[in-house]
Amino acid sequence: MKQRIAIVGFGTVGQGIAEILLNKTAYLNEKYGYDYQVVAIADFAYGNAFNPDGLDLPLMLEEAKAKRKFSKDVTAMDTLTLIRECNADVMCELTYTDLSTGGPAIDHVKAALDSRKSVVTSNKGPAALKYREFAELAESNGVKFLIEGTVCAGTPVINLSEGPLAGCEISKIRGILNGTTNYMLSEMEKGMSYDDVLKVAQEKGYAEADPTGDVEGYDARGKVTILANIVMGVKMDINEVSCKGITKITPADIEEAKSKNSRWKLIGCVEKRDGKVVGSVAPEMVSLSHPLAGVMGATNALTFTTDMLGDVTIVGPGAGRMETGFSILTDLLHIFRTGK
Ligand SMILES: NC(=O)c1ccc[n+]([C@@H]2O[C@H](COP(=O)([O-])OP(=O)(O)OC[C@H]3O[C@@H](n4cnc5c(N)ncnc54)[C@H](OP(=O)(O)O)[C@@H]3O)[C@@H](O)[C@H]2O)c1
Repeated sequence: MKQRIAIVGFGTVGQGIAEILLNKTAYLNEKYGYDYQVVAIADFAYGNAFNPDGLDLPLMLEEAKAKRKFSKDVTAMDTLTLIRECNADVMCELTYTDLSTGGPAIDHVKAALDSRKSVVTSNKGPAALKYREFAELAESNGVKFLIEGTVCAGTPVINLSEGPLAGCEISKIRGILNGTTNYMLSEMEKGMSYDDVLKVAQEKGYAEADPTGDVEGYDARGKVTILANIVMGVKMDINEVSCKGITKITPADIEEAKSKNSRWKLIGCVEKRDGKVVGSVAPEMVSLSHPLAGVMGATNALTFTTDMLGDVTIVGPGAGRMETGFSILTDLLHIFRTGK
């Protein structure tokens, strides 16, 4: 049976998963028997479209890439009505992240789960602020709420802990969760000032016009909260995670780290300490001998401390159209292969 998909937010990641589905249709079908239909797309910029028998995905992609409004199967339904009324099995929530309120994504996720549709998302808002509530709602409605892409994009972090590491007790997860700041710290080591490297990061599209979320550590704090809730299984509020960014790192600090055979990394950490789970984000001097020290540029990395394997470190991309699109694919496939 075909998996029917709704995509809400057709920007970088939304178009990324659409391209992946189109380019890999034959491979996915041959390898996993996977078949799909995108029945609904909703986006501020391009409009809302619905066809219960499947949209013309190549055309929608072409129009979005050309920054044109959708011209076919356009519906007057607003996004929440479309999510509730469409015949999708899964809704991919790919609108912008708002770590203060969750933004419209909270309502999108709720509408999908309420109408017994699974949700797959790379949006940290619903995952960091309402993971437990949504996981319980999904469970009671017999559907899934999957969030692999919210931490380290498609690099398997959540699936790693739930799949291959299942059975290991994880006492600590510690790593580089924000590619922008890791890129900035890497460049500062080469002699650039904080202000200059921020400008370059913005020019390269790593940092946004308002870089606060990255440089103050808020983005990493959202991810630490997600890891605490999903991997450590505790109910942790985002405000319980202590948070310090990289804005105060000076050239003198960089030199000090070098003299100690170390380098600065913005480290997100969640660990079991004295029977409690504690979350933090802060710059740390990491010894050059540690695997995390070798992770440079916009790459992400996480070390899981486990009872049976000791430390297991995974390194991979933390952003990107295909890289995050892949996280959506992996969750879609999981739903397809295991049923709702
Ligand atoms: N890009 C990455 O590498 C990456 C990596 C990990 C996680 N993520 C997360 O994945 C999500 C999607 O990221 P992205 O890079 O694809 O963002 P994006 O390029 O900004 O795309 C988001 C799209 O959603 C639309 N939109 C905003 N609010 C909407 C609403 N209420 N209803 C319908 N459409 C709405 C936007 O339209 P307008 O532009 O007109 O507002 C835009 O077209 C974000 O939550 C992001 O944090 C992204």
